[in-house]
Amino acid sequence: MPNTEIISAARPNAEWWRTAVIYQIYPRSFADSNGDGIGDLPGVTSRLESLASLGIDAIWFSPFFKSPQKDAGYDISDYKQIDPLFGTNEDLEVLLAKSKQLGIRIIVDIVPNHTSDQHAWFQEALAAAEGSAARDMYMFRDGQGANGELPPNNWQSIFGGPAWTRVTNPDGSAGQWYLHMFDSSQPDLNWDNPRVADEFDDILRFWLAKGVDGFRVDVAHGMIKRAGLPDATIYDENLRERPIKNLTMEEAEEAVPYWGQPGVHDAIRRFRRVLDEFEDRAFCAEASMSPLPRLAMWVRPDEYHQAFNFDYMTTAYEPAALKKIITDSIVEYAKVGASSTWVMSNHDGIRHATRLGIAPEHTPRPGDGIHPTDPAPDEALGLRRARAATAFMLGLPGSSYLYQGEELGLPEAWQLEGKYRQDPTYARTNGKRIGRDGCRVPLPWEADATASNGFNTTGESWLPQPANYRTFARNLQDGVAGSTLELYKRLLKERKAFGMGSGEFRWAEEFQDKNTLGYINNGVLVLFNFGPDAVVLPAGEVLVTTQHDLILEGELEHDQVVWIKL
Ligand code: GLC
Repeated sequence: MPNTEIISAARPNAEWWRTAVIYQIYPRSFADSNGDGIGDLPGVTSRLESLASLGIDAIWFSPFFKSPQKDAGYDISDYKQIDPLFGTNEDLEVLLAKSKQLGIRIIVDIVPNHTSDQHAWFQEALAAAEGSAARDMYMFRDGQGANGELPPNNWQSIFGGPAWTRVTNPDGSAGQWYLHMFDSSQPDLNWDNPRVADEFDDILRFWLAKGVDGFRVDVAHGMIKRAGLPDATIYDENLRERPIKNLTMEEAEEAVPYWGQPGVHDAIRRFRRVLDEFEDRAFCAEASMSPLPRLAMWVRPDEYHQAFNFDYMTTAYEPAALKKIITDSIVEYAKVGASSTWVMSNHDGIRHATRLGIAPEHTPRPGDGIHPTDPAPDEALGLRRARAATAFMLGLPGSSYLYQGEELGLPEAWQLEGKYRQDPTYARTNGKRIGRDGCRVPLPWEADATASNGFNTTGESWLPQPANYRTFARNLQDGVAGSTLELYKRLLKERKAFGMGSGEFRWAEEFQDKNTLGYINNGVLVLFNFGPDAVVLPAGEVLVTTQHDLILEGELEHDQVVWIKL
């Protein structure tokens, strides 16, 4: 590609979600108003100003609906009620009103692939006869073997162990099996049953009418399973989706019959029609689909607006790989009229301030977590790289997702003792896969204000904060030049000022060598030095840098980024 080629065209002021910076709140760990150790909606409302001052455009909430909390709320038993742990439906209305005043949009998480086993539909299905309409809401099948004692196929749960559980009939005899791609408390819905789609139309309309700005769609890649539920043919330990990265679309559909099946597009279009009954709303799909052209099919004009770019998040920390994934993302999404999203951390992975301090050969697989016996990550290097990687990401055109706490540079709490671990992955693999709790620990707000550093007034915390969390507390960073919090504020301010979310982007090969990567977006050069040596800075006005808050003495050090107005 010639270095003058513009690979993204400006779309100023069009469609907020194309350029939005969206901040993910994990409700149980953001802020706790009633002191029970679990964050809640009034806690969020009380802290909204701090997000407004950070400069975000929208919040995405991980689920806060009624749930037995077997998978931290991704097991929903009533889609129209807020779980009392987090507050009431009225608390959400208060939060929506206040966020509207502050100009922050609200996206909620919808979980259509499965419900909780405590949902009335599943309880009804358990009590009903085989082959009944109630059972047809879910994926019940007869077992294999002479007496149905073997699971219907070889699918494995993403959290470990088989993806099937056998039920006991009301008369005490062994019955059919039901499918659960996640925990056994999360039965998969049957999207071939039109009643399921009707119910979800209704759920979407319910929240849209309350004024939410959109939905993040959980496990959007799993809703439709291949007819006949054939065995999966590609194994990689637990049949997880990552290994399909290198297959063609057809091979992937065939090999993993529960992910990315073509029938899903009809379900997506139906979702979209409901959303379009309301103005200015958007969807973001959690669709773990590779390669990118396959994922791009999910964001065609009548489907989802956005999809998370997990291939970007998991790209190796080096210039060539990063350049390729960014180019591919912009180009592939543009082919279908969509903009790319970018993300470095979320509630399912290892916080990037820690992840980037792990040698590539020791990096755990997504969702596995760092085992306490793994080599210790280099936390100083991790944080330095995380700041640089974020500064590079926030200059890109498109929409960026931030995960709560990353603006503080929070590391992963990877040494949590087993007794605290709640991720079902931990129990389902007997601790072999340590799971995702390490990125879910409550946030430190005011150092030493309480044992939980201001997460609440009682010091209670559903997962204990490691000792080093106090040093990352927001009050120690607010207004402090060079802090990670001030860096994020500055990045978001300049990003907005220069319209970079919808800017004209090109690679700046004239400023690059083999250890650096640079691009120009709306006249701003964003330059990343991967090291090992310092590089001489080009002329221009320094807008923001990860290095000593604007104090640059002619050189950019390794693992640092600078934004220069040319
Ligand atoms: C998604 C969520 C994850 C959850 C799973 C099952 O991947 O991000 O947290 O455990 O779906 O709902």
